[in-house]
Amino acid sequence: MTQQHDGMDVAAAGEHSGAAGEHSGRDLVVRARSLDLSFGAHHVLKDVSVDVRRGRVVGLVGESGSGKSTLAKAIVGMNRIDEGELEVVGEDVSRPSRAQRHRLYRRVQYVPQDPYSSLNPRRTIGQTLAEAFEPNRRTARGRTDLIAEVLTRVQLDPSLASRYPHEFSGGQRQRIAIARALAVGPELIVADEITSALDVSVQAEVIRLLADLRLKGADHSMLFITHNLAVAQVVCDDIIVMRHGRIVETGPVDAVFADPADQYTRTLLDSVPGAKGFSLT
Ligand SMILES: Nc1ncnc2c1ncn2[C@@H]1O[C@H](COP(=O)(O)OP(=O)(O)OP(=O)(O)O)[C@@H](O)[C@H]1O
Ligand SMILES: [Mg+2]
Repeated sequence: MTQQHDGMDVAAAGEHSGAAGEHSGRDLVVRARSLDLSFGAHHVLKDVSVDVRRGRVVGLVGESGSGKSTLAKAIVGMNRIDEGELEVVGEDVSRPSRAQRHRLYRRVQYVPQDPYSSLNPRRTIGQTLAEAFEPNRRTARGRTDLIAEVLTRVQLDPSLASRYPHEFSGGQRQRIAIARALAVGPELIVADEITSALDVSVQAEVIRLLADLRLKGADHSMLFITHNLAVAQVVCDDIIVMRHGRIVETGPVDAVFADPADQYTRTLLDSVPGAKGFSLT
């Protein structure tokens, strides 16, 4: 059974439906109930129930192969669940249609691990960002201002808009991928291991940026997937711990880290040097 912490904002539901911590659909950007998903004979998600509240940064952690990306892709409509109910930004996406996926694109943005594969090498950064802004664009002048604004938000110089992806470092490309996701103006950003391909020092830069965006009161929610519990502690409000396709623990990140209720979470924390008291300074 899933362990829960008092005062949690990520509610493990299912048998807990209606318990304290259950929020109405309007507050939730993700509401998953008893999800099951298999690839052939391989049962990957097992009875997964999670809530992500609007405005929160929620970490999804667990060892490699535990099903984190599979769950993330179901949430953004790239994987189809076999059983259960899945609502994302208020839409039932249990069986997403093509039209629905198209509609959700502007409301839910997926940022993958490798920004090189997700940025078009033939387009300048400015062109890529302009596409993301498309429906908001009024005039060329307005577009330039928007591009400058979003580049500044991710701490890149607006003059870089005329450059191509290969002219940037891995950390800069990942910031550009974040900028593109922000430019769309989504309600939810699903960030899947966006720092794990980067050198440690560059990881810290991207993490600082995410922490900084959070401090400035970003208006999107985020599901932040990571192997690294120390990173999760800095970036996230709440945490979901997965193991072998199941949710084993959920709750506010500080409460879970201070006093993990589940043995597996304890083992995970013990195996990460510096996970307790990790700081960016
Ligand atoms: N498209 C697919 N077809 C078949 N099996 C898949 C597919 N995607 C994932 N799997 C399998 O599902 C399991 C969970 O994979 P998933 O990528 O969700 O794990 P993860 O927690 O994201 O791992 P990591 O931390 O390494 O990214 C793995 O055993 C994986 O091999
Ligand atoms: Mg993964």
